[in-house]
Amino acid sequence: MFSYYTVFKDETKLDINYIPSRLLHRLNELNLLNQFFSFVLRFPGKMSQRVLVSGKVGTGKTVLTQFFGMQLVREAEKRNINVHYVHVNCRECRGNMLHVLQRVLQRFYPNFPVRGYSLEELLQTLTSVLDEENAYVVLTLDELEYLVEKAGSDPIYQLTRLQETRPPNSPHRISLICILRQLEILKKLDESTRSTLQHNIIRLKEYSKSQLEDILNDRVSLAFKPNTVLPDAVSLVAELAEAEKGNARFAIELLWRAGKYADANGLSLVTPECVRMAMASVYSTVRKTDIASLSLHEKLFLLGIAKAFKQSEKAYISMGEAEETYRAVCEEFGEKPRRHTQLWEYLKKLSILGAVATRKGSTGARGRTTVISMPWIPAAQLEKELYNFLNKEEASG
Ligand SMILES: Nc1ncnc2c1ncn2[C@@H]1O[C@H](COP(=O)(O)OP(=O)(O)OP(=O)(O)O)[C@@H](O)[C@H]1O
Ligand SMILES: [Mg+2]
Repeated sequence: MFSYYTVFKDETKLDINYIPSRLLHRLNELNLLNQFFSFVLRFPGKMSQRVLVSGKVGTGKTVLTQFFGMQLVREAEKRNINVHYVHVNCRECRGNMLHVLQRVLQRFYPNFPVRGYSLEELLQTLTSVLDEENAYVVLTLDELEYLVEKAGSDPIYQLTRLQETRPPNSPHRISLICILRQLEILKKLDESTRSTLQHNIIRLKEYSKSQLEDILNDRVSLAFKPNTVLPDAVSLVAELAEAEKGNARFAIELLWRAGKYADANGLSLVTPECVRMAMASVYSTVRKTDIASLSLHEKLFLLGIAKAFKQSEKAYISMGEAEETYRAVCEEFGEKPRRHTQLWEYLKKLSILGAVATRKGSTGARGRTTVISMPWIPAAQLEKELYNFLNKEEASG
């Protein structure tokens, strides 16, 4: 009989969307969130709250807020308060507030259509639905960058001013949690939204090696058969992930890949060598979904940068060099290159995504220059990936 040995017991526990039953090393941050929102349970409707959660890639922003949301709803149920926690990812909504609000409304009316409504109308509908149901919503806007990039501060402004458009003494129905990787984006918001968010900010620090080890060990016991993962393998994964700016997603993904490597090679143990082999194939800091969501010229620009690195063997390139290869790429795809100022915007976005890193270089004729590096992704691999996306886009039209 064909038998297939695997080190895994339940791979889904390593899935990116899995919400762990234990949140490790974020209890202070969880308490802070609870404090910020305690009035929702104590004096529902008396006020609303806006909180900002910020931290680098994989520092647990999403999992922390989802965890908080689950607890909040459970607590509210005990007290017979109709509180809904709605977690919406702005990237998945393509930075469109209409889609965000649609997700919220669908919580109450699963078939709620979005077409044909303006933002004002959707907000109106939402508040009347909440009034009817006597419900409160804590809405998390995850990866808020995408919304601000796409639509500026207007939609958030309207959302936060909602209460002012209601009759005096109407209950406050909607509170907000905004999630941002980089605080720079805040500059793009209007003064008052920015200042409330800045007052209620929870910063998630990068995880240390030992914290990552705890998170990993927790997953090992859920996802792997007993005694299939050597402690040294876990330790190595944690060390590599600490070097990746304390990125827990990187850690979990690397652990999963190491397990896959063991399976593929018929090994009954996940060893440090499996981790090293997995590391060689890892390509996780920039997720494919992130690349897919870039605009055509953002992709072309990133492709230009990847090509520049592939050609040069250098660790750093200048903006000028990046522009030069970008123009060649545009020619290849029959596209008119975007202007210099636009490319600066692209560069900022790519750096937020973690596709590239930028820093100030030496002083040149026109002031401080900016140098670009791409520390986390092999250039050849990124180039290939981008060609895949771009050719698909061309083919579909
Ligand atoms: N404290 C923790 N305890 C248990 N698991 C965690 C913890 N922090 C992060 N994780 C896990 O690590 C992975 C990455 O976490 P998460 O998605 O919350 O990061 P993030 O800060 O939202 O990253 P990004 O900026 O890329 O969206 C998830 O699989 C999550 O379940
Ligand atoms: Mg996240």
